[in-house]
Amino acid sequence: MSIIFHEKTKQFHLNNDYISYIIGVLPDGSLGQLYSGERIHDKEDYSYLINLEYRSMMVGLHDNEVFTQEINRMEYPSFGTGDYRAPAFMLMHENGSHVSRFEYVSHRIFPGKPALPGLPALYTEDDSEAESLEICLKDHLTGMGQYHLYTVFKDYPVIARSVRFVNGGSERVKITRAMSMALDLPDSDYVWMQFSGAWTREKRPIERLLTEGTVSIGSLRGHSSANHNPFVILKRRNTDEFKGEALGISLVYSGNFLMSAEGDTYGTLRFIAGIHPECFSWNLSPGDEFRTPEAVIAWTNEGLNDLSHTFHSLYRKRLCRGIWKEKPRPILLNNWEATYMGFNEESILKIASKGRDAGIELFVLDDGWFGKRDDDRSGLGDWYVNKDKLPGGIGGLSEKIHAMGMKFGLWFEPEMINEDSDLYRAHPDWVLSVPGRSRSVGRHQMVLDLSKNEVLEYLYERMHNIIDEGKIDYVKWDMNRTISECYSIGAEAEEQGTIYHKNVLNVYKLYEKLISDFPEILFESCASGGSRFDAGMLYYAPQTWGSDDTDAVERMKIQYGTSYGYPISSIGAHVSESPNQQTGRACSIETRAAVACFGTFGYEMDLNRLSDEEFETVKKQVIFMKEHRELLQGGRFYRLLSPYEGNYCAWMVVSEDRKRAIAACYRILAEVNPGHKRLKFTGLDPDKTYRIEGNEYFGDELMKIGLEIADIPKEGKGAEGDFVSRLWILE
Ligand code: GLA
Repeated sequence: MSIIFHEKTKQFHLNNDYISYIIGVLPDGSLGQLYSGERIHDKEDYSYLINLEYRSMMVGLHDNEVFTQEINRMEYPSFGTGDYRAPAFMLMHENGSHVSRFEYVSHRIFPGKPALPGLPALYTEDDSEAESLEICLKDHLTGMGQYHLYTVFKDYPVIARSVRFVNGGSERVKITRAMSMALDLPDSDYVWMQFSGAWTREKRPIERLLTEGTVSIGSLRGHSSANHNPFVILKRRNTDEFKGEALGISLVYSGNFLMSAEGDTYGTLRFIAGIHPECFSWNLSPGDEFRTPEAVIAWTNEGLNDLSHTFHSLYRKRLCRGIWKEKPRPILLNNWEATYMGFNEESILKIASKGRDAGIELFVLDDGWFGKRDDDRSGLGDWYVNKDKLPGGIGGLSEKIHAMGMKFGLWFEPEMINEDSDLYRAHPDWVLSVPGRSRSVGRHQMVLDLSKNEVLEYLYERMHNIIDEGKIDYVKWDMNRTISECYSIGAEAEEQGTIYHKNVLNVYKLYEKLISDFPEILFESCASGGSRFDAGMLYYAPQTWGSDDTDAVERMKIQYGTSYGYPISSIGAHVSESPNQQTGRACSIETRAAVACFGTFGYEMDLNRLSDEEFETVKKQVIFMKEHRELLQGGRFYRLLSPYEGNYCAWMVVSEDRKRAIAACYRILAEVNPGHKRLKFTGLDPDKTYRIEGNEYFGDELMKIGLEIADIPKEGKGAEGDFVSRLWILE
């Protein structure tokens, strides 16, 4: 891994064993993107990749007719100076002009990777793991500075980028657009893959063939959203899971975002990603600075599984933090679908003790334990225990759960408030809303204005005390409403464009304070399921509740889609009641667990309601999970058959040393007189012999011939009919 600077040509070559990323200073002083992708040789001069040619109808520098931004690949394109594609940034100057000309001034190359204060970002544990480059550009007329930070990691085909704007001039400047990255690619012959959906149907892969014009996704909901995930893949038409070229772009951010690809009329493609410019502005007084969130770009030539492995490993090891990042996750029991808010200490203990009998390690008390909260119309914001339900308080309940030999977890939804709450009665101005206008309500709740420090302090004090007194081991941090009427009462008019972003920054701040106070706690983020399942959150909470849809068949699809950009250890997945409460579908306990075990694994039901036989199965599942979770959550995960493409879904995990693997195949609907279908495994050692259910096979045999899957119904309990599954343990 190295970052080379060629003084004479002013070109930078960031590279490691896998990739090269070459930037050069262009004739107008701006930065050009010369090459990105598979590693190539270093050379002093790649300037033939700069297009220097006169074309009519184009504008260029008055003293250099052959250079125009319009037909060049720009590294961080500006607006108004000859480039008519989407800009990466836009600045409003005091004189009303939006034109800037940033020119290369200096740079520094240094080992390691600096933290981005206040923002989630990849990190190194040792400076030798990565090298960073900061390039400083200046707009000489205004004194504004742009600092482009790049990091190349030794072991990953990845570049991490972000930008810092520093007002080094004497006038105020308003930033109205500040993308984290732009990447100009030499051709637009890509298939764009996004992960979109809605509440209870998150992250469905959707493909669009790129051509001239713009394709984009984004969120203006205040969180990254279930509707579009801030992760996009650009792949070649012939790329599939196992072969072919692709790049993945992931934004390490949890708020409003925009990701777009613009094919221009000269055949190139511009990709940009960052904070959504709509409703965003940030004033920089002299001396002030603004930092964008980080964007992570990864490349592969070996298909989408390989691209996912990069994100899985990188995010597990160098984005997630704390003691839990690589530890097998405790098997939990959550009471939400068992009781909703209608519980008391007695009923909770009954559910918990059955969990203990099953070998469960962590009991989680969900929504309804605080304030006056018997339904979702009241109580949010009043983070004081409801003594009618829990007379011994959280501390009393926690003690009893701990005495059973289990850990104790608790649900919070700090960012929200009900109108019917003591908090709202005391602080009506703590709600995001526009004075004099009616305001929207969602799930009977409103969003707190976290840009206010006093709100942050209140939440910190409450959460800290409850966690401390209750000796909490796990926190489920929920966020169940999108933001509307984003206006901070009392803030200056010109500050209003900062509020969406400040809310996100202060959520990060609150997390940071709590995780540093309680480094042992396992945090699970949640937003009505997967509405804030993004790389930003993983920096604070190493797992995220995958979806409020706990139906095994639906979950198969959701977890399949989630696995493109996020590690299996980050996907919160539970076995719930059958028939399922969201879909009404009945599904065997085996299939439900066979899906959830490719995730953090737990139960979200009252185990007392199971038949004795089912309960015995649960006990075996818990034993199975304890034995194999390290492999399931931390092994190399491969998608084999997509549930979006047919009646089967299959995936597998392989251990680092390729000595063990677990594969799963799910048949969605029963088939009569089916054809002979074989499932080919992948990622195995071709020369090793693997034992499966008493038979032995070579790795190459399993990968080239595979196992018959049409006979799934012959095996196992509940295997006949629809929604059947089969797990194979390979040793
Ligand atoms: C959200 C979460 C659920 C549950 C409820 C509680 O919907 O996703 O898991 O915690 O809130 O209100």
